[in-house]
Amino acid sequence: MGLRIVVVDFGGQYTHLIARRVRELGVYSEIVEPENLREALEKGGVGGIILSGGPKAVLEAGAPTINLNYLSRLDIPILGICYGHQLMAKEFGGELARSSYREYGRMKVRVIHEDELFRGLPSSFWVWMSHWDTVIKPPEGWIATSISEKGIITSMSDGKRFYSTQFHPEVSHTEYGSKILENFLRKICKINPWWSPGDQVSRIIEEIRNTVGEDERVICAVSGGVDSVTTAVLVSKAVGERLYSIFIDTGLLRKNERENVENTLKNLGIKNLIVVDAAGRFLEKLKGVRDPEEKRKIIGEEFIRVFEEVSSKIENVRWLAQGTIYPDRVESGKASRHSALIKSHHNVGGLPEKMSLKILEPLRDFYKDEVRAIAKKLGIPREIWARHPFPGPGLAVRIIGEVNEEKLKICRDASAIIEEELMKSGVYDMVWQAFAVVGDDRWIGVMGDDRIEGYIVTIRIVESIDGMTADWHRIDYEIIDRISRRITNEVFKVTMVTYAVSSKPPSTIEPC
Ligand code: XMP
Repeated sequence: MGLRIVVVDFGGQYTHLIARRVRELGVYSEIVEPENLREALEKGGVGGIILSGGPKAVLEAGAPTINLNYLSRLDIPILGICYGHQLMAKEFGGELARSSYREYGRMKVRVIHEDELFRGLPSSFWVWMSHWDTVIKPPEGWIATSISEKGIITSMSDGKRFYSTQFHPEVSHTEYGSKILENFLRKICKINPWWSPGDQVSRIIEEIRNTVGEDERVICAVSGGVDSVTTAVLVSKAVGERLYSIFIDTGLLRKNERENVENTLKNLGIKNLIVVDAAGRFLEKLKGVRDPEEKRKIIGEEFIRVFEEVSSKIENVRWLAQGTIYPDRVESGKASRHSALIKSHHNVGGLPEKMSLKILEPLRDFYKDEVRAIAKKLGIPREIWARHPFPGPGLAVRIIGEVNEEKLKICRDASAIIEEELMKSGVYDMVWQAFAVVGDDRWIGVMGDDRIEGYIVTIRIVESIDGMTADWHRIDYEIIDRISRRITNEVFKVTMVTYAVSSKPPSTIEPC
């Protein structure tokens, strides 16, 4: 194992992005809370520390901090970003001032002293900034290394171990951002690339094997998504037939999903696969329910009930394997915890607490892209790892109003056409999600000589990085025309197709 990077989280929205970028450069990184930094360092193996951005201003009362004097006694390089930059200035005796205006967005900086961090960069480049406070004087013995067009200090260093930038090198809008992080890793921390997610497969399998007792059994709810399928395959490689995978067909799945998942898992050598047809139960519970939150609650609860019923029949089960990934576990940007509830996310596979099983989470330290790399390495087919995210409550959140057989069929068939056409035209891989939405509004149509009152299908295709914000995809007219014709021709009772052109915010991606 090579040396790792610790990213100290001051609650910034880009903290996970910093950790991901470092990993992309071949160095394992983990996120820690400021109060847990000491503990992380005592474990050893830390080759560098990055202090993240954060929503507070360092001069504010109660702003989070760390003991930098303690850190300066260690021989570990530190890079401060945004809040981290200001914190270093404050703690080492520099001067800070509240700005009269907020610097926000892209701006140009000029390098005034080329140190190791900026080695090989041009003398001026665009960066991404978002802040109020500014460092007006670096600490004693430090020098400013770049300034903005308005003359603000945008980076500084002590020329040895401490470096900081007011801007965000982890954000793609910062030119040479990746080079700056690479310089920090290679030239300052002296860590060469040593880590890649695909290389972790045998270690993960070995770890599961050592964790699960020899006669203990494991259950796992598989949904067909990349996280749960990859989890099941890893566990099955470790414990073989002692894994029982449970796939619950809620009746809210995409077209042919059940058959596809069943075949895929069998082809991957998963032995004890239990497929439960619970569609009738879910539909019965959803009858007459129109409220989106109520739908989610019913689906979440029913899922757990079915899961418990099935798993209680398997003897000697001690473990529940879950496809939890790193961002599910480490939540950054705590301010969002206090923001208004937009939608409660009930994920398929929600943990039945009273089952008192031990939890196995083999993907707990990985990001989504890394899970995809692991899936590829395990031979999981592209249809699984390259498929768009699908919400836990399934088509229920794409059907406005009551969920019933008729609307489900329309939603399923129209979505399949959308996916098929986007794959044919190469757009599928460029977008975050693409699907059909159906509600209760009607549009009069003509079919042959008959006048019919048909459904309206809305096509939603969005581009996004993480689902938190999204933009509607500017689709080619020819493609949308083909999709629209196919939907009205091939999907029974659809008389109008519309295209959703609102971004998130103000809309959400799913209609319910
Ligand atoms: P919204 O609709 O909130 O969706 O803009 C953001 C992302 O989250 C997905 N989504 C869900 N995922 N359970 C999930 O597992 C849910 O209840 C749920 N609701 C929305 C949505 O597909 C999008 O990618």
